[in-house]
Amino acid sequence: MTLKKSPWIWMDGEYIPWDEAQVHVLSHSLHYGCCVFEGIRAYNTAQGAAIFRVDAHIRRLYNSARIHEMEIPIPESEMIALCHELLARNSLTNAYIRPLIYYGYGGLGLLAPEDSLRVSISTFEWGNYLGDDSKNHGVAVGVSSWRRFAPDTMPAQAKAGGNYISSQLITREAQRNGFDEGVALDYFGNLSEGPGMNLFLVRDGALLTPTHGDSILDGITRDSVICLADDLGIEVLEQTMPREYLYLADEIFFTGTAAEIVPIRTVDGRNVGNGKPGPMTRQLQHAFYGILEGSRPDTRGWLQRP
Ligand SMILES: Cc1ncc(COP(=O)(O)O)c(C=O)c1O
Repeated sequence: MTLKKSPWIWMDGEYIPWDEAQVHVLSHSLHYGCCVFEGIRAYNTAQGAAIFRVDAHIRRLYNSARIHEMEIPIPESEMIALCHELLARNSLTNAYIRPLIYYGYGGLGLLAPEDSLRVSISTFEWGNYLGDDSKNHGVAVGVSSWRRFAPDTMPAQAKAGGNYISSQLITREAQRNGFDEGVALDYFGNLSEGPGMNLFLVRDGALLTPTHGDSILDGITRDSVICLADDLGIEVLEQTMPREYLYLADEIFFTGTAAEIVPIRTVDGRNVGNGKPGPMTRQLQHAFYGILEGSRPDTRGWLQRP
């Protein structure tokens, strides 16, 4: 599916018309995958457009850059202001925002020249990543034969472009096998996450999710769900889990900015619970979408405006 164009893209200090926001074919990041990025959503609220936890996303962007020793030339506060400004310039309210830090044209040695570092922010309308129906009906997943990277290989906590080659293998294999999406194990064979979303399981009334040590990205939706579960008096356990927990769970769901909260109906062809989205998944969805839609108070200030 091609992207829906919006008028402007911000590149290195200037607003450029969408079709003119081009890079050279010898751009370093295009060859070696060293770039860091974010995926953020803005929502149309009764008080106008608001960006969901933009501060946390931009913090993670700078942390990703720090892991890969990339010096972003502008402060975090300016990056946040630019996200708001670009959204307004493009007259968007419900939108996806994609800041990207990459190495452009300048050299093709393994380590890019520092002065080739580039910054861009794009924003456009984008529906639910797993399909607009997925949050109601759930998805079918398969456990991937591709594992997430071992802890001392690629840093999973950095949202870096190159990491997503692994994610593509996971999704491609899952779809070839007739599933909507894949779930990956980590190097040790324990549960990790989906290719672009975190994983939650419900078992005996508690909410379980893999730890930071299980090769996951520290998801902002994951953190939001943990906070909401706490508000609702649900016990949350961050723990390392073997694969078979998938087959014993009463409910399973994915979380992520692009996918939001998506129930998992089946794993490897086996029903999760009765094969329908379960009550705790529904309760957490209700709380999450309640904040986005304004029917639940935004007590933590997640919906951020300029
Ligand atoms: C690999 C991976 N895991 C998890 C997530 C979910 O993170 P978030 O909720 O911050 O979007 C994402 C999406 O950014 C991701 O790419």
